[in-house]
Amino acid sequence: MQNPHSLVIVSGATGEIGKAIVNKLYSESYDILAIARNSDKLNELSAQTTANKIGKVFNYTLNDCNYASLAKKLEEFPFEKYENINLVNSMGLSWPLSNFSDLSHDSIDSLVHSNFTATLHIIKIFANALTKKEGNSIINIGSVAGRWSSPKTAIYNACKSAILSFSESIRHEFSSYGVRVTCIEPGVVDSQFSKKRFSSPEKAEYFYKGIPLLTPNDIANHVFWCIEQPKHVNIQELAVFPTRQSSVGSLKKTTDK
Ligand SMILES: NC(=O)c1ccc[n+]([C@@H]2O[C@H](COP(=O)([O-])OP(=O)(O)OC[C@H]3O[C@@H](n4cnc5c(N)ncnc54)[C@H](OP(=O)(O)O)[C@@H]3O)[C@@H](O)[C@H]2O)c1
Repeated sequence: MQNPHSLVIVSGATGEIGKAIVNKLYSESYDILAIARNSDKLNELSAQTTANKIGKVFNYTLNDCNYASLAKKLEEFPFEKYENINLVNSMGLSWPLSNFSDLSHDSIDSLVHSNFTATLHIIKIFANALTKKEGNSIINIGSVAGRWSSPKTAIYNACKSAILSFSESIRHEFSSYGVRVTCIEPGVVDSQFSKKRFSSPEKAEYFYKGIPLLTPNDIANHVFWCIEQPKHVNIQELAVFPTRQSSVGSLKKTTDK
């Protein structure tokens, strides 16, 4: 156990996986620094999380992608009081399946920003605090879509591939400080994110019906497991599929044999 003096920073904290990570780590007595762009959702999350237990959840809103302003606000944060600091990046943007050539320029920028660039800025903001102690961690939530591509998801595939490659590259830099870098790559998680790529909720329901998918709590448990390894152990990469998803495009229903 790394507690009681540990902090977990979660970006994309108001997403379904982000919330599960916040709740899991909080329940394990970690302090939480939650980052999201919607302050109402962020306040609701911390009120629900702290309802039955005394612990600390610090909220930071990322307004209009203003990373410099977020960095400024964090200047006073007492990172030095923690024995261990972990940064989990869970931002991402789902999009209905579409051919690349049909996307607008604005959609391309927005997809690349939410699925890739935003994570780089967040890591940059915390790099200094993270490299102060051995055994700190950066965990990026990638996707199996970063290793295996499928039709009509070209930008998401490219961004998640970039997250994996970026994680591999910065590991060279951060390992010099004893800081671990992990990329967790989930298959399909039962969430609005995975349903949004279909043209209607009914189509998503039909497609996933009878397939036990991963849950946001499964991913939160994997994050916790990676963080709780002894500090000389770095789980570099973790590809996690639902048992009935044998590859990115192959999902088997419980009625299939
Ligand atoms: N769900 C799946 O099936 C699945 C599978 C594999 C990998 N993943 C990955 O898991 C991560 C979390 O997914 P999820 O299911 O939790 O999705 P989600 O519920 O849509 O959450 C995404 C989070 O990212 C935030 N976000 C998006 N763009 C942002 C930006 N530009 N700046 C700041 N915050 C931004 C969202 O904020 P708002 O709440 O304000 O929108 C939300 O908090 C993503 O990286 C996703 O690619 C998901």
